[in-house]
Amino acid sequence: MAEHTSPHERHPEHPVTHHFQSVFGTEPEGVWAAPGRINLIGEHTDYNDGFVLPLAIPQHTSVAVRRRSDDLLRLHSRQADGPTVELRVADLAPGSVTGWAKYLAAVVWALREDGHLIGGADLHIDSDVPAGAGLSSSAALECAVATAYNDLNGLGLSRTELALVAQRAENEFVGVPCGVMDQMASMCCTADAALFLDTRDLGSRQVPLALDGLRLLVIDTRVKHDLADGAYAKLRAGCERAAEALGVLTLRDLPSSGLAEALDRLPAELRPLVRHVVTENARVEQAVALLSAGDPAGLGPILTAGHASLRDDYRVSCPETDLAAATAEAAGALGARMTGGGFGGSVIALVSEVMVGSVREAVLSAFARAGHRTPRTFVATASAGARRLA
Ligand code: GLA
Repeated sequence: MAEHTSPHERHPEHPVTHHFQSVFGTEPEGVWAAPGRINLIGEHTDYNDGFVLPLAIPQHTSVAVRRRSDDLLRLHSRQADGPTVELRVADLAPGSVTGWAKYLAAVVWALREDGHLIGGADLHIDSDVPAGAGLSSSAALECAVATAYNDLNGLGLSRTELALVAQRAENEFVGVPCGVMDQMASMCCTADAALFLDTRDLGSRQVPLALDGLRLLVIDTRVKHDLADGAYAKLRAGCERAAEALGVLTLRDLPSSGLAEALDRLPAELRPLVRHVVTENARVEQAVALLSAGDPAGLGPILTAGHASLRDDYRVSCPETDLAAATAEAAGALGARMTGGGFGGSVIALVSEVMVGSVREAVLSAFARAGHRTPRTFVATASAGARRLA
């Protein structure tokens, strides 16, 4: 595989360098960063070998690293108020590390499982990707660390290979059975484009995101979800049971034209899952066609249909995300939907630039009236994937 991570945008005086110095009393060898993401459309399709269309957001996680000659890992986070976490590389095993440090340890563990001779290091991390907001803060952390190790140790892994290392870290070490979308988005997205990814063969295409006068308003409801709590794993298992019952490898193999007949053959509790996955894959293809045809406004109804499907069929929405999506639309958004795994997290709304302020105000008022926490909002611009900063 070609396309190795390449150093660009280097700033030797990066603030993370100074933080590293004050924590560890020495200079880092470099600073790397990887972004969070929003997903335009294609939710809960990635573990069904389906299509996704994420874009990287400007918020990212930075990691400053200096390798050590022993096998000690000293980890420090600007966001966690605690002391430096110290671990022995040789002792790393799934379940052995808790808290934020497990995502870093997981990547070191996964690289070693793949046969790379990774030793100790001092790492300092800093992030402005909100945690638990459905914006892939854990993938950003994993991908920043994987990119740093790849460069520092001359591993020569491609972006796709690094995404797979990060996914393995999350699946096997952290214990979350996620698909590959978040890690691929963090590694492979480029500025001004969404990543049209086929999660079956990991083939991808950058789809230019020419939104004209439209903007993507992100509404973080600040309701925290926890994908490790079993609900995600249950949904995934339901999809696998349905595929088996239908005699297909994965739900990706079910064409829209065969949906009605397939639903008839399934037990009632599996039908909504299958309906969501099949219609969602079709929505991704429609969205790509609309963007390619220069019709970004056409995305509105697709986002809205995607939200209804996640709310009514897949049932991963919640009152706060439903309220944010409905209020944004009532206030003039062309479409809105929850993004990410669900059970809280963020909503994206497609809004004409001149209406961003009024849609935002409408959502904040509706949340205040309903007694919910005040959401955080920002306008997402499609940003670059993982990269070296210094
Ligand atoms: C989480 C997972 C992804 C994907 C989404 C739902 O973000 O990490 O792999 O399954 O949920 O689309």
